[in-house]
Amino acid sequence: MNTSESPQAVARTTVIFTCILAALAGLMFGLDIGVISGATQFIQKDFNIDDHTVEWIVSAMMLGAAIGALGAAWMSSALGRKKSLIAGAVLFVLGSLLCAFAWSPITLILARIVLGLAIGIATFTAPLYLAEVAPEKIRGSMISLYQLMITTGILVAFLSDLAFSAAGAWRWMLGIIAIPGVLFLFGVFFLPDSPRWLMMRGRKPDAIKVLKRLRGDDGIVDHEIADIEEQLKQPQLGWHLFQQNKNFRRSVGLGVLLQLMQQFTGMNVVMYYAPKIFQTMGYDTHAQLWFTAIVGLTNVLATFIAIGFVDRLGRKPMLYAGFVVMALGLGVVGAMMHMGINGKGEQYFTVGMLLLFIVGFAMSAGPLIWTLCSEVQPLKGRDFGIGASTFTNWVGNYIVGLTFLSLLNGIGNANTFWLYAALNVIFIGLTFWLVPETKGVTLEQIETRLMAGKPLRAIGR
Ligand code: BGC
Repeated sequence: MNTSESPQAVARTTVIFTCILAALAGLMFGLDIGVISGATQFIQKDFNIDDHTVEWIVSAMMLGAAIGALGAAWMSSALGRKKSLIAGAVLFVLGSLLCAFAWSPITLILARIVLGLAIGIATFTAPLYLAEVAPEKIRGSMISLYQLMITTGILVAFLSDLAFSAAGAWRWMLGIIAIPGVLFLFGVFFLPDSPRWLMMRGRKPDAIKVLKRLRGDDGIVDHEIADIEEQLKQPQLGWHLFQQNKNFRRSVGLGVLLQLMQQFTGMNVVMYYAPKIFQTMGYDTHAQLWFTAIVGLTNVLATFIAIGFVDRLGRKPMLYAGFVVMALGLGVVGAMMHMGINGKGEQYFTVGMLLLFIVGFAMSAGPLIWTLCSEVQPLKGRDFGIGASTFTNWVGNYIVGLTFLSLLNGIGNANTFWLYAALNVIFIGLTFWLVPETKGVTLEQIETRLMAGKPLRAIGR
């Protein structure tokens, strides 16, 4: 009896290991999102600065990330996905150490921009890389894994903020995330180059070598190489393609829209301002931080729903369910705030509804938007297309983060939540009209249908 593992089984393990490592980029993303909410009050006291300067310290990271995502589009094409991930990791370690040792608000803002650059590069390159190395059968789950790492990063950051908050040690909060950064940097050296990128650079023998390790089946390798070769015959790239090709403009537009939808679900309102929201529900400081940690945990756990179902049920059913749940959760939170939250029972109920919203996001828009954005772009313009959508993710993130407090002050608590609930209802319609179902379809098939001018909702199945 032959007890040794088949080449396919070895290849499957290799591909999963590869994806896990690349998904660690998501961990850094999450640490970055989560870490600042707990640190700002101590920074403000230490530097004796006004709210406006605090806003700058918070949002400098999003600004850097938007720039980093744009730069990464060029870098991942010129230097490759792997080298871009390495550059992202180096900047991440540097940025977090600079934050920890910042001696003035200005240096902290600059350090946050460096950190943002790192995250921009990582958030652009990691999903691109994942889509290029994962076989299509597990592609959805693999990219959901990336989201799982984001949510884990957020949770860890919430918990570490909680731990350091007794001492008010904001430098530790911001600096400690350099450690996972170093681990990631170490791991990334073991990643193979993306076979698609190798083919783009004319390095077919290298591409075959990598694909053999990732697929373990010569037939599949030959097939994939032939597919990629076929697509590389089209001579346009990026911006050039965008100017010339209407179909490419459609897929770029879809990516941008998808990321706007993700950000305007209102998720980051909760990520940046959870303690503040719990304060408006009537909780004291201690309870606020604990509930914030529960939000982080819920976000991680509900991501498993997406991982388990995305490649079985498909992307669209999950998105529908998610937007409905989010609209419901936020709608009820708004109603409770409108009526006034009196007594423990009503407080818990409102917290439960906010957690329901988190579940809705984590099982749908959180992971699936990243999945879809990396799936719908044609190979020749993939770097540009994903660059545009990732850039939009950060711009949307920036706007949502920057306007929440003004919305609360301007239109009131209830209306603010109802506004986001209404947006989620609109997204149900947009999903129906514009989003394709990409479950079990190869990237090559999606590209062929897009370029044949099929309606966006029909470029998948
Ligand atoms: C989003 C982030 C968000 C996170 C929350 C990600 O998919 O892009 O903006 O903070 O999910 O889990």
